[in-house]
Amino acid sequence: MDLGISGKWALVCGASKGLGRGCAEALVREGVNLVVNARSADALQQTAAQLREEGARAAGAAPQVIAVAADITTPEGRAAVFGAAGGPGKDFDIVVTNAGGPPPGDFRDWDRDAWVRAVDANMLTPIELIRATVDGMAARGFGRIVNITSSAVKAPIDILGLSNGARSGLTGFVAGAARSSIAARGVTINNLLPGRFDTDRLVGTINAAAAKTGKSVEEVRRMQQAAIPAGRYGTPQEFGAICAFLCSVQAGYMTGQNVLADGGAYPGTF
Ligand SMILES: NC(=O)c1ccc[n+]([C@@H]2O[C@H](COP(=O)([O-])OP(=O)(O)OC[C@H]3O[C@@H](n4cnc5c(N)ncnc54)[C@H](OP(=O)(O)O)[C@@H]3O)[C@@H](O)[C@H]2O)c1
Repeated sequence: MDLGISGKWALVCGASKGLGRGCAEALVREGVNLVVNARSADALQQTAAQLREEGARAAGAAPQVIAVAADITTPEGRAAVFGAAGGPGKDFDIVVTNAGGPPPGDFRDWDRDAWVRAVDANMLTPIELIRATVDGMAARGFGRIVNITSSAVKAPIDILGLSNGARSGLTGFVAGAARSSIAARGVTINNLLPGRFDTDRLVGTINAAAAKTGKSVEEVRRMQQAAIPAGRYGTPQEFGAICAFLCSVQAGYMTGQNVLADGGAYPGTF
């Protein structure tokens, strides 16, 4: 299916590896030009080079890929990515918000500073990115925002309290913003909720679970996968394909939604 977004410009944050990279790959294959962001310059440059090759191979028209190494949770980092697209965020047609998740732990150990860091990275940063881009999108009559959040928004995970809390704040904000006046002007905002996907981030949470329970890492992996109806972790490629669909022309009537990708792990009817 042609997603109708070839030639558009997308900002994909946290894109050097993992889920952000999966989204960047799926978009570049559709011929979307990219500004990709992560903090480590070397890893990001390598990814950008591979994305250029992937785009040239799949999309034919060799989409542009610009790498901006910056911390997206800072005002300076956001200014750097907006500068790369030629203006203060007005030129992006698609924005995929993403950054590292907060550390796991016990809520008794988190002080105010820990909470401020989590809220800043996983709630206020996506809101700042939305604020900077939606009006330009609405003026041009097309825009897609996809926030990478977490299945923890629907089914909280005890050791990820910082994530449960901060991302729920973003989810509430998006529910209102997506239904504001921008909805009638071609702009959609949706959240994409990963369950367990095989990335470096997952390795971190598995190690924490192993340390907490005294089980081996292999045992935790086996038990986690057995608890997922699909019987396995998801892949960044599967995640990216859903993201690209949410960014498509065809998904224009879908906004304010929380789309869960978890291999059936969430047990509810809705
Ligand atoms: N994987 C899962 O199963 C899962 C499940 C639920 C939720 N999530 C959430 O989904 C998001 C992505 O997870 P992932 O598994 O893809 O993680 P990952 O494999 O660790 O990749 C994270 C990416 O984000 C970049 N990044 C981190 N902090 C950043 C910052 N401040 N500014 C710019 N880039 C930053 C990293 O590069 P640098 O380190 O070089 O910046 C890397 O490219 C996280 O918020 C995670 O909590 C993941």
